[in-house]
Amino acid sequence: MTRPIVAPSILASDFANLEREINMINESQADWIHVDVMDGVFVPNISMGIPVVEAVNKHAKKPLDVHLMIVHPENFVEAFINAGASIISVHVEACAHLHRNIQQIKNLGCKAGVAINPHTSITELENIIADIDLVCVMSVNPGFGGQKFIENTYRKVSMLKKLINEYGSKALVEIDGGVNQQNAKALLDAGADVLVAGNFVFSATDPKAVIAKLKSVG
Ligand code: DX5
Ligand code: ZN
Repeated sequence: MTRPIVAPSILASDFANLEREINMINESQADWIHVDVMDGVFVPNISMGIPVVEAVNKHAKKPLDVHLMIVHPENFVEAFINAGASIISVHVEACAHLHRNIQQIKNLGCKAGVAINPHTSITELENIIADIDLVCVMSVNPGFGGQKFIENTYRKVSMLKKLINEYGSKALVEIDGGVNQQNAKALLDAGADVLVAGNFVFSATDPKAVIAKLKSVG
């Protein structure tokens, strides 16, 4: 099994010491930096926006994986790319014109992902799977870090992997929410490629060691 891509979610980091937190990720074995953007409309919480992504990007030595939990992402995609995003995921539930949203991201030279909520069926992705670089499978309801992992995710990941193979898609499968050392191995066995981890990393006394553990799960 190949080693997973590990993407610490800075939602759980110390915002008063963001430079220190980003440097920790730079020095760690993490591959990407996961950035959770919330608008208080699509999800019942507000987190960070474009100026924070710009600030993170000043220090980051790893790609920014920006997860937009916002309505009308088409109004902000270009600004997030200019702020430093390497990958942008939009939510299928927030996009009336998902195909257009994906093309917009790709035409601006950025990798495009689609995030799906726990209740959303994999079949929703059928007509878009060949066009995207990433599927962000939400394993908690989006809006907050530190929630309990939803067990149905394993089944969903297996189904998604079948869909990806059926359509010859190159999309990576990312798991977002409640990821820890207990579920990481089973997620990789089911077909996950990318593990996002917020609280599991940042609540640890040695976050770099936790990142290394996740990296060696595969
Ligand atoms: C939830 C976010 C997640 C969250 C993960 O809305 O999309 O990225 O930060 O945090 P943990 O790992 O604490 O569940
Ligand atoms: Zn996220």
